Amino acid sequence: MKLPPHSRENVLPLPVVLISTISKAGIQNAAPWGNITPILRPLDEILLASWLRRDTLDNIRETGEFVVNVPPATMVEEVMICARNFPPEIDEFEEAGLTPRPSTVVAPPGIEGSVAWMECRLVEEITREMYALVIGSVVHLEVNDRYATDGGDMDFGAARPLCMVCSNDGIRFAYPVDAERFASYSEMFVRRS
Ligand SMILES: Cc1cc2nc3c(=O)[nH]c(=O)nc-3n(C[C@H](O)[C@H](O)[C@H](O)COP(=O)(O)O)c2cc1C
Repeated sequence: MKLPPHSRENVLPLPVVLISTISKAGIQNAAPWGNITPILRPLDEILLASWLRRDTLDNIRETGEFVVNVPPATMVEEVMICARNFPPEIDEFEEAGLTPRPSTVVAPPGIEGSVAWMECRLVEEITREMYALVIGSVVHLEVNDRYATDGGDMDFGAARPLCMVCSNDGIRFAYPVDAERFASYSEMFVRRS
């Protein structure tokens, strides 16, 4: 079946994160984001795509800081409250009943109960006619001890980090299931003897 080109998200599952920011006036904000990707392992930058009319984008421009929170699937109702287009003077932590978690090196708080927290500083904004690409540097990263192995790997079976698959009339939420195939990084390199 052919699909229109703009239906890319119908065939490409995306992670869902909550981006927390604060405005210059000190108002806390949280918004779900699917268009987010790390830029190449093992570098420490992350890229997100934003429509131009977003309080999140305004706050990042104003303060240069944001936190990428990885919500567990159990947080999906709070995620959808944060998706509403509240005006900038509304504290979205209060609206969604989210508990702020003090960050270590940036001013915006993280969200208590998340699977992981990436504290980020703005590196560069690439502005297009309709959207902006925001590159941030992850300056502090933590995984919730509840969902981490002793080595710091995420136990995603327990954590159920939220993902999304779009359909023509809405979003289906999901989380990853182990395919029972582990690949060591060394598998990618051809051995020449
Ligand atoms: C699951 C999900 C993913 C989203 N991903 C994005 C995204 O990647 N970029 C974007 O600009 N808006 C995205 N949105 C829409 C924003 O979250 C929504 O417009 C929100 O109200 C923006 O809040 P803000 O104005 O407080 O930043 C997404 C919404 C949902 C529900």
